[in-house]
Amino acid sequence: MTGRILAVNFGAQLLPFIRGTSAQNSSGQKIAFTGAFDDQEEITMEVKQVKLIYFSATGTTRKVLESIAKGITAENVVHINLTLAEGARQTIPPFSDELVILGAPVYGGRLPVDAINRFKQLKASKTLAVLIVVYGNREFEDALLELKNLAIELGFIPVAGGAFIGEHSFASKDIPIANGRPDSLDLQKAMDFGPKIKDKVTALLSPDAQMDLDIPGFFPYKANGARSMAVSPITKEDTCTVCGTCAGVCPTAAISIDGSVATKIELCIRCCACIKNCPTDARVMEDSMWKDIANWLNENCSTRKEPQIFGISDSEN
Ligand SMILES: Cc1cc2nc3c(=O)[nH]c(=O)nc-3n(C[C@H](O)[C@H](O)[C@H](O)COP(=O)(O)O)c2cc1C
Ligand code: SF4
Ligand code: SF4
Repeated sequence: MTGRILAVNFGAQLLPFIRGTSAQNSSGQKIAFTGAFDDQEEITMEVKQVKLIYFSATGTTRKVLESIAKGITAENVVHINLTLAEGARQTIPPFSDELVILGAPVYGGRLPVDAINRFKQLKASKTLAVLIVVYGNREFEDALLELKNLAIELGFIPVAGGAFIGEHSFASKDIPIANGRPDSLDLQKAMDFGPKIKDKVTALLSPDAQMDLDIPGFFPYKANGARSMAVSPITKEDTCTVCGTCAGVCPTAAISIDGSVATKIELCIRCCACIKNCPTDARVMEDSMWKDIANWLNENCSTRKEPQIFGISDSEN
């Protein structure tokens, strides 16, 4: 058997991991393996750390990733938050022996362009990755497949994936769309996913292990991504205290504060972080087309969807 030896370590557990792209199992069957390990190579790898890497303007993706990490019960969990421009400028050390959980919201059935651009600075080298998208109870369409393809391009080996539900960015108290999600049930499901991920990584030790990760979606992608609309939230001067919170949470630095709040419409990606974080509800969406979309979502996407996970066998799902 040609192959390589990996040791997968979650905390105290250290397991030898023998894999090969052309390996055969004890019955003589070829192991299906789509990862990028080299033949003839023997190395040791320990998953010492879980790294959460995410773009999450309104924080729902971040919450899901945190719950998954809780379920994994890794000794060391590190956050790499690429939501803000400053975060995206941080130097990210090369990956080594960690398990990465990569998460992004769904915008127009695809990944947000800013998430893609930020993730593109990651350089992995056969690093195991779990891929998560969070969507607002409409559909996730091609987004998780896009994340899988991007992760492979960046050098990750996807082991499992998940599509979770988060409160829709366009939702409000008056126009609810999956309000309050991820809720306690979603977060419990995210936590329950943690041990399954551990099991999946451990199962990779088996000579019968299948590394293919089937993700729904179309390539070439059918979904078009978020529509470009020359609109942004506006500020109600009478209730704005010029506290600057909105500028601090804007992922594209579209907001500046100089005695009052100014927004560069052309930079706005309509993530709604400024609206959801304004302490006086002074940031609002007034645009009629935007409101129409929110009303449509409220009317047509109110039936609760449940999180789905991929790459874990049905009996465990
Ligand atoms: C511009 C834009 C487009 C969106 N498109 C979709 C979509 O296609 N399907 C969906 O279900 N939710 C969609 N959403 C909702 C977000 O995916 C959802 O609110 C998610 O929880 C936001 O993640 P975050 O809190 O990590 O930013 C969209 C949100 C925005 C801002
Ligand atoms: S967060 Fe709200 S109150 Fe604070 S500056 Fe922005 S709009 Fe004004
Ligand atoms: S100005 Fe636009 S991009 Fe910036 S936080 Fe508000 S909605 Fe998001």
